[in-house]
Amino acid sequence: MAWFKHVALLLIAALPRITALPVNDANDANDANENSISAEGRYIVTLQNNIPMPEVRNHMSRVAAIQYRNSGNHKLPHTGIEKAYAIGEFRAYVGAFDLDTLQMIRNDTRVAEIEPDTVVSIREETSYKAASQSNAPWGLATLSSKRRNTGTYHYDTSAGNGTFAYVLDSGINVNHIEFEGRASNGYNAVDGDFTDIQGHGTHCAGIIGSKSYGVAKKAQLIAVKTFRNQETLMSTVMDAYQWSANDIRTKNRVGLAVINMSLGKWQLRKFDSGV
Ligand SMILES: *[C@@H]1O[C@H](CO)[C@@H](O)[C@H](O)[C@H]1NC(C)=O
Ligand SMILES: *[C@@H]1O[C@H](CO)[C@@H](O)[C@H](O)[C@H]1NC(C)=O
Ligand SMILES: *[C@@H]1O[C@H](CO)[C@@H](O)[C@H](O)[C@H]1NC(C)=O
Repeated sequence: MAWFKHVALLLIAALPRITALPVNDANDANDANENSISAEGRYIVTLQNNIPMPEVRNHMSRVAAIQYRNSGNHKLPHTGIEKAYAIGEFRAYVGAFDLDTLQMIRNDTRVAEIEPDTVVSIREETSYKAASQSNAPWGLATLSSKRRNTGTYHYDTSAGNGTFAYVLDSGINVNHIEFEGRASNGYNAVDGDFTDIQGHGTHCAGIIGSKSYGVAKKAQLIAVKTFRNQETLMSTVMDAYQWSANDIRTKNRVGLAVINMSLGKWQLRKFDSGV
């Protein structure tokens, strides 16, 4: 999915795996008509970034003209360009091309990449078995249902197994039974030991991954201690963030990890009596 990498670069945040499972109360019928889809002879052509639109159009009409000539000459069933894409700087098109036309496309320096179109399918049911927690806290139940007050939290059975939450906060009470040994001390950016004397970090980690109250009940929780009490310095947050980002990269957890920072530069607004 080379095209996807190009586009993903344009997006700031790419969400990792979904844990809470939205359920469809209407239970729509799934009329599968899968045998009708074929990617044969189709190619996705990605152009270089920053090519002005007139040049893009110019390139595409050249491709169309050559394809037209070739298919006329050889009576080939290739349809040529079918659809063009523009997302931010990203420019691409898809179509069915004969080999000569492909060669010409490949020769063009404005082309960044050519890849075969492929058939993709929705995730197999079996890898996405649903689990549910009855008598769930209101917040959890509300996450997974459009209806109010269902009392049941639906999630997929992986429950975030294999994912990591870096909690930049006051620490985590890693021995709490609600964490089942999935919480650990990662990094301490402030003086003193890892103990969460404030409590906020343990609270946040609980919302993320405790067994009874958590969204991702099997996720690993990593304490990145950024606060000793209510306040810290922005430079300390940077230190904690740096450690987390580097840890995610060196341990190959990119796409499997989130960094959670439940903090901000809150300006307490004082009420003015108007006098
Ligand atoms: C592509 O370039 C090669 C040499 O680099 C040339 O021989 C060939 O004719 C070109 N093909 C097209 C279709 O432009
Ligand atoms: C979590 O995933 C690993 C593989 O990534 C697997 O070996 C393990 O059994 C899973 N654990 C649970 C509790 O699902
Ligand atoms: C995670 O961070 C976000 C962004 O600051 C915050 O809104 C959210 O409450 C945090 N989640 C938890 C469980 O602390």
